[in-house]
Amino acid sequence: MSNPEFSGITACVFDAYGTLFDVHSAVARHSDAMGNVGDRVSQMWRTKQLEYTWLRSLMGRHADFWQVTGDALDYALNAFDIGDKTLRDSLMDAYLTLSPYPEVRDVLSQLKQRGVQLAILSNGAPNMLGVAVASAEIADLLDEVLSVEDVGIYKPDPRVYQLAVDRLQITPEQISFQSSNAWDAVGAAAFGFKVAWVNRFAQHRERLPAQPQAEIRTLAELLDLLD
Ligand code: LAC
Repeated sequence: MSNPEFSGITACVFDAYGTLFDVHSAVARHSDAMGNVGDRVSQMWRTKQLEYTWLRSLMGRHADFWQVTGDALDYALNAFDIGDKTLRDSLMDAYLTLSPYPEVRDVLSQLKQRGVQLAILSNGAPNMLGVAVASAEIADLLDEVLSVEDVGIYKPDPRVYQLAVDRLQITPEQISFQSSNAWDAVGAAAFGFKVAWVNRFAQHRERLPAQPQAEIRTLAELLDLLD
């Protein structure tokens, strides 16, 4: 069902990791080598990766998302006593070409046909995003691939969301922002975007100032929302 809060939208801006790309697909590809701890390692890897982005931002000690992702993986592998360096390198390689969620290409294509500007706004380093977008075969559909590296701080710092406004040259209210990360959805709503929280993992609402305007389960529902 269309949502009047999203009338006047001229651009859709997407979070990358967890929203377009399945962050657990890296470990899934190496599940044989991970034994029965694969899921737990993958969860810890993701949790630590995000914590390190917030902590580095608070500390004023930025390093790019490739570094942070590697540090988080090292933490998780160490926590589960996995010392296999080759496996570590394979997991990092797999992180470059994460699988897109199945509906992604079709949804982006349909939005593009409607004349909506399409962009990614992500913590990812530019080279990571470039490889991921090429591997998912969605490069032709995107007008912009924006990385926090242009501002040197991570989400949810408002300077990150401002990047999309500056680059697309529209107002925040003209942007529909999609993220599966509840905290990112809140950060974007606090900034002034219209936000569709893609609650892929049936998470609970964050108790933080500002809330997304809509909650959907997959990006496919975005097509109706913006109709
Ligand atoms: C990103 C993280 C939040 O892509 O997943 O920005």
